[in-house]
Amino acid sequence: MGRLDGKVVIVTGGAKGIGFSGVELMAKEGAKVVATDREHNLALLQEKVAPLAGEITATSLDVTKAADWERVVKETVAKYGHLDGLVNNAGSHITKSLLETSEDDWDKIMDVNAKGVWLGMRAVIPEMMKNDGGKGRGSIANTSSVAALMGGYADAGSVSYSASKGAVDAMTRHAAQWYAKYNIRVNNVNPGPIFTGMVVKSGVPTQAAMGALHKGRINLPPYAGEAADIGYAFVYLMSEESKFMTGADLVIDGGWSSNSFVPEQNMHEILKD
Ligand SMILES: NC(=O)c1ccc[n+]([C@@H]2O[C@H](COP(=O)([O-])OP(=O)(O)OC[C@H]3O[C@@H](n4cnc5c(N)ncnc54)[C@H](O)[C@@H]3O)[C@@H](O)[C@H]2O)c1
Repeated sequence: MGRLDGKVVIVTGGAKGIGFSGVELMAKEGAKVVATDREHNLALLQEKVAPLAGEITATSLDVTKAADWERVVKETVAKYGHLDGLVNNAGSHITKSLLETSEDDWDKIMDVNAKGVWLGMRAVIPEMMKNDGGKGRGSIANTSSVAALMGGYADAGSVSYSASKGAVDAMTRHAAQWYAKYNIRVNNVNPGPIFTGMVVKSGVPTQAAMGALHKGRINLPPYAGEAADIGYAFVYLMSEESKFMTGADLVIDGGWSSNSFVPEQNMHEILKD
């Protein structure tokens, strides 16, 4: 028996990185997964989900477009009769400091990372409220970042990215508060450095190189995570195993944000003394 048997879950940004891992792991656990990504990544998404175990529907969804959300939710409910979960994973990143950021940069990042998450919750919550004979039930996982928790998130920093993820954290708490009476749970997942295409785009070629950048700031080897480290969190949050959890931040960062060492120190070197 799978941990997600009978669950119907929509995932955004499912063609790559963390989102793809979530699609794969949730389908393996028995969920009916509606895997989505932007139109230009649809062929890639279809190709990547084809060999996977389980039931996966691939379709296009740009998270910044309300009409796309409306269509995907409608198609999902028409196909499966109900909707249990949403993994709001799609995200976009630029590395630009507060002074370097243009209005266009700001709008683009906020549009995908903050508005996209709000539009997603707005689209799925009314369907989740209908579950269990109108009593309601559902689970939403919003992908934030340690960037929402830490000022010194990255060397060059990114004011728009940090602000957008702070908005995600706040929206999660808001939605968790207001929809708990419909048994709809809303939680954040706050990843630390996870090696994916987003990281390659920012100029870091391998997980080892990413780890090397963070050694001394992160205590747990290999100092950078992989997509499945977050994919498994989606499985947990979409399952009934997390039924008493809402409004929380699930921080998965190798200990970075709880680290009290100064950057030059490394736990393993200190323990040798
Ligand atoms: N990789 C990390 O170190 C890290 C750390 C913290 C948080 N995150 C967050 O995790 C999530 C996934 O990141 P990733 O590293 O897998 O990135 P990635 O770039 O590998 O994948 C992101 C996916 O989102 C999709 N996407 C972008 N804009 C979209 C839009 N408007 N509509 C629909 N889909 C869109 C892309 O097409 C892509 O498939 C993001 O929200 C990101 O901010 C990543």
